[in-house]
Amino acid sequence: MNILAIESSCDETAAAVVRDGRTVLSSVVASQVEEHRLYGGVVPEIASRRHAEAIVPVVSQALEQAAVTLNEIDAIAVTYAPGLIGALLVGVNFAKGLSLATGIPLVPTHHLRSHIASNYITNPDLEPPFLCLVVSGGHSHIVMVEDYTSMKIIGRTRDDAAGEAFDKAARTMGMPYPGGIMLDKVAEEGNPRAFKLPRPVVHDAPYDFSFSGLKTAVINLIHNAAQKGEELNKADVCASFRYAVVDCLSTNFLRAAEDLHVGKLVIAGGVSANSLLRRTLEEECLSSGRQFYKPERSLCGDNAAMVGAQGFYEFRSGNVAGANLNAYATMSIDKTYP
Ligand code: KG4
Ligand code: ZN
Repeated sequence: MNILAIESSCDETAAAVVRDGRTVLSSVVASQVEEHRLYGGVVPEIASRRHAEAIVPVVSQALEQAAVTLNEIDAIAVTYAPGLIGALLVGVNFAKGLSLATGIPLVPTHHLRSHIASNYITNPDLEPPFLCLVVSGGHSHIVMVEDYTSMKIIGRTRDDAAGEAFDKAARTMGMPYPGGIMLDKVAEEGNPRAFKLPRPVVHDAPYDFSFSGLKTAVINLIHNAAQKGEELNKADVCASFRYAVVDCLSTNFLRAAEDLHVGKLVIAGGVSANSLLRRTLEEECLSSGRQFYKPERSLCGDNAAMVGAQGFYEFRSGNVAGANLNAYATMSIDKTYP
């Protein structure tokens, strides 16, 4: 079964053709990041306009590169939530129009479920159930993936997402948006124990995260040094901050795995590209006899191949929408459409 997948939830316009949820025939991503970088973050109005310009050429390219015609497409999967509402609407309305014109079924697909599904592409043997740490620019969740379309939230952030904390810390150090990637690179050269940073915990919620205090602590450290005219070693600050974030993420994730007796751990989302997070969990799982899965780095960020992977399983479970499909800025990962 061939799925044409469309993604436009944030600042990437993407389309892909995926066979049977696991094989990527094509994957095209048009990124707007250079333009948003001028403003230090995503400007929603600009994002919507760029999606509207890019959607037709990106979808055409995806079909062309896969060497399939619309006659060979069995379903159209589209990200309908969560994300920037104006951005999501471009993809959803395009997909609705294409579905109406061709009669090809329309499959609404949740963005974070798609991030999890990027693992089905990289790891052909991976099947639920498993415990997944979903960490992106907007979300930080520990999710029990009971089946491909059945999820239970075990832990979540109470304030900032991990990616957001990385980006804000990086911005304070003068790194371009989205700074998480560069912070990770610079951290490789630093000492993670150079600066003591807090490891915030949420009372009575051992699997929940809180990154806002940690973010403020590193920003204060940088500002205080600047006021005193002191030069901080940037690599040491990056390494200490990255260590603190990864420590919080991995501690809660491993605790949840232990308590729930889960032997299969998976990571997903933009922050799952983080070098220290990947190494830490790889080592911890090896020493505790757990299986560990991660998406290849090129599939960690936003793309449509992952939407095609999840869309396959959504379609298989009967998740099909009509012309009244809407986009939603927020939508819990455990909710299945409608
Ligand atoms: O999943 P994603 O592409 O978009 C959302 O759905 O939000 O995640 C983007 C986030 C950004 O905050 C970016 O800085 C972060 O993922 N990110 C990283 C790394 N690569 C991307 N954070 C830390 N280390 C990285 N290597
Ligand atoms: Zn994403």
